[in-house]
Amino acid sequence: MTSSSPARTGLVLSQLCRRVGQQTLIDNLSLEVAPGDILALLGPSGCGKSTTLRCIAGLDRASSGSIELAGKEITGRPPAERNVAMVFQSYALYPHLSVRKNLSLGLELRRVPPAEIEEDVERVLALLQLEACRERKPAELSGGQRQRVALARALLRKPALFLLDEPMSNLDAQLREDLRGELRGILRSTGAPVVYVTHDQHEAMGLADRIAVLKAGELQQLGAAAELYRNPQNQFVASFLGSPSINLLPLHPGALVGLRPEHLEVMEASRPLAPEQAALNAQREHLEWLGDRVISHWRVQGTSVKVLSDAQSRSAALAQSHDGPLQLRWTREHELHFEQASGRRIR
Ligand SMILES: Nc1ncnc2c1ncn2[C@@H]1O[C@H](COP(=O)(O)OP(=O)(O)OP(=O)(O)O)[C@@H](O)[C@H]1O
Ligand SMILES: [Mg+2]
Repeated sequence: MTSSSPARTGLVLSQLCRRVGQQTLIDNLSLEVAPGDILALLGPSGCGKSTTLRCIAGLDRASSGSIELAGKEITGRPPAERNVAMVFQSYALYPHLSVRKNLSLGLELRRVPPAEIEEDVERVLALLQLEACRERKPAELSGGQRQRVALARALLRKPALFLLDEPMSNLDAQLREDLRGELRGILRSTGAPVVYVTHDQHEAMGLADRIAVLKAGELQQLGAAAELYRNPQNQFVASFLGSPSINLLPLHPGALVGLRPEHLEVMEASRPLAPEQAALNAQREHLEWLGDRVISHWRVQGTSVKVLSDAQSRSAALAQSHDGPLQLRWTREHELHFEQASGRRIR
């Protein structure tokens, strides 16, 4: 199956399935990633993220469905014929070789002329700020530097597609945050489609143009981060994006009302309620200080509820100390309604 439409020049998965024995690891997954686009595959442990990448790379076999890259079907092709670069969580560097040699080896094996290798290697060393590490062995590098070497090696292959499987999960939070912006710029500049696997919503939101949320091998929703956040199609997506996570309150029979912690306000129960607002009486539990913001924890009709407020706000002041009865209030248009049985969004 080939297609000449310009929208289909990147990566196209059509009804991809992978079954092993009785288990369905990927269930009818269809998605497209255009050249220069970064798609994050986001989902909890075991939802099939790595399996999806491995099928695209040809390391695992698809049971049915098709994979198309740059207008060509590659579903049954061996990995070496796919022109796909994959960066894993473990860097898979050669421990006995220097950084420079780790980077040049693949090009040497492909008989790229030495002058060209030298030029390309120096270019990516500069791009990833690894010049000072050129002659060191992997064991003499920090985790972040090793990660950048693995990425540099993938970039040198000039593949038609980048697949990254939690490439930053071995790094500390600060370094991840620092590298996120850099990585985004570097990946974008390659002009190749990118599939980036993570279970970290912040990483997905900070790095990707679009996010595909997976659960048990099934695509739940695909869209820009803001769209998924504001307009989740089901309770799973609503709960998976956002921290602290969305509050779910059993306010109507058979339905749960979702309220984002930042959409709740703490107010004295005696104050008049605006017509567009709703309110519930709440008992204070405890406070978490985040520096400029505060998470206050409440008990509302037997359910625990979190409120996220600016540290300077009236909500934060009331949450910290107030003698009279308090309410949590919100504007009704912020409510997300889910059918309790299926988790499906109903309003
Ligand atoms: N070869 C296999 N045979 C049978 N089951 C497998 C095989 N490989 C993976 N699985 C199962 O498939 C499911 C998906 O695994 P996968 O590694 O794709 O998840 P993941 O989303 O990458 O998880 P994590 O975030 O923990 O890396 C899991 O339930 C896993 O146990
Ligand atoms: Mg995985």
